[in-house]
Amino acid sequence: MPTSKRLNVAVVGATGMVGNEMLRVLSQREFPSERVIALASERSKGMTVPYNGSSIQVEELNESAFKGIDVALFAASGDIALMYGPQAAESGALVIDNSSAWRMKQNVPLVVPEVNSDDIRDNEGIIANPNCCAIPLTVILNPLKKKAGLERVLVATYQSASGAGRALVDELEEQTKAIAAGEEPSASVYPYQLAYNVVPGGWRPEADGYNEEEVKIVNETRKILHEPELRITAACVRVPVPVGHGESVFIETTEKITADEVRELLSTSPGIAVQDDPHARLYPTPHGVAGKDEVYVGRIRDDASSRHGLVLWIVSDNLRKGAALNAVQIAEKAIEMGVIGK
Ligand SMILES: NC(=O)c1ccc[n+]([C@@H]2O[C@H](COP(=O)([O-])OP(=O)(O)OC[C@H]3O[C@@H](n4cnc5c(N)ncnc54)[C@H](OP(=O)(O)O)[C@@H]3O)[C@@H](O)[C@H]2O)c1
Repeated sequence: MPTSKRLNVAVVGATGMVGNEMLRVLSQREFPSERVIALASERSKGMTVPYNGSSIQVEELNESAFKGIDVALFAASGDIALMYGPQAAESGALVIDNSSAWRMKQNVPLVVPEVNSDDIRDNEGIIANPNCCAIPLTVILNPLKKKAGLERVLVATYQSASGAGRALVDELEEQTKAIAAGEEPSASVYPYQLAYNVVPGGWRPEADGYNEEEVKIVNETRKILHEPELRITAACVRVPVPVGHGESVFIETTEKITADEVRELLSTSPGIAVQDDPHARLYPTPHGVAGKDEVYVGRIRDDASSRHGLVLWIVSDNLRKGAALNAVQIAEKAIEMGVIGK
């Protein structure tokens, strides 16, 4: 990666699921850093978080935390991003935010490097990292859009507990242990018991019976693909899986493209691993994909109910490609494009 200078990096929310993964990704990818600082709430001040075979001490997030920082990777709430994002940008950092606070703002690029890295140039100090289902979905849809055009997309998600943060992962584990011990599991983080269950909700309700997550997937997919009129709808479901989101996707293309052609196309497209041989029982699962970088796709088939229809199944690690990895890839791309690190 061409950079004349090593960068000072801040990870905001370093004690959380995504922040932890960001630190791991930064060291795994040998990000050209001079210094990495870990920021979190007052509660975590003085704790340590693992980084690069060692650990770093967590500092409290405050207005002066971004002095001298070149890249600020935010992995905290939307409120924190709204409050501290502009401060970090004003002090000269490129902010890459994982919350949904900035994603749909007009002057904020929403970036998946395999799809719309050119949008990075339009940043005014803040770049948004998209929703953990929208990222893998657009990685798959983009080559199909270029080859055959997109008419309509229906997506049903199977989202893991870690998508809702560490608290739900801990609750799922406690519930599973309680059930195994013959005890009544308790649920306080999520509206329903998640262990031994599947929950078609838990996100904030929105208009017309949809929820916040479904609306995000629709709006963000349109923005990333530069397809504001794309006919797309989503149905989101939480499943009792620790890490890895699955998505069952029904696609209608403008031009006919067969399942075989799609398999070939996707196997040569960036960021995608095709795992597709149902006769050999080969298809991606969250368990198999957790910890991996690519968006995995399998069960690619023609939709027999539609002339230009396709059905496929995608799985990606929501903490990596769905969050931390994508954010670090944006920073790497910004360096490559000369946006930072000159
Ligand atoms: N999980 C996913 O798959 C995923 C995917 C895409 C995007 N995101 C987004 O990424 C963000 C982080 O998600 P997560 O799953 O990592 O959540 P999480 O595990 O609950 O972690 C939240 C982090 O925010 C920090 N924080 C909370 N209040 C703070 C404050 N007042 N000042 C500074 N830091 C504060 C926490 O620090 P303390 O430990 O000190 O409380 C913790 O480090 C969220 O906006 C989420 O929507 C998550």
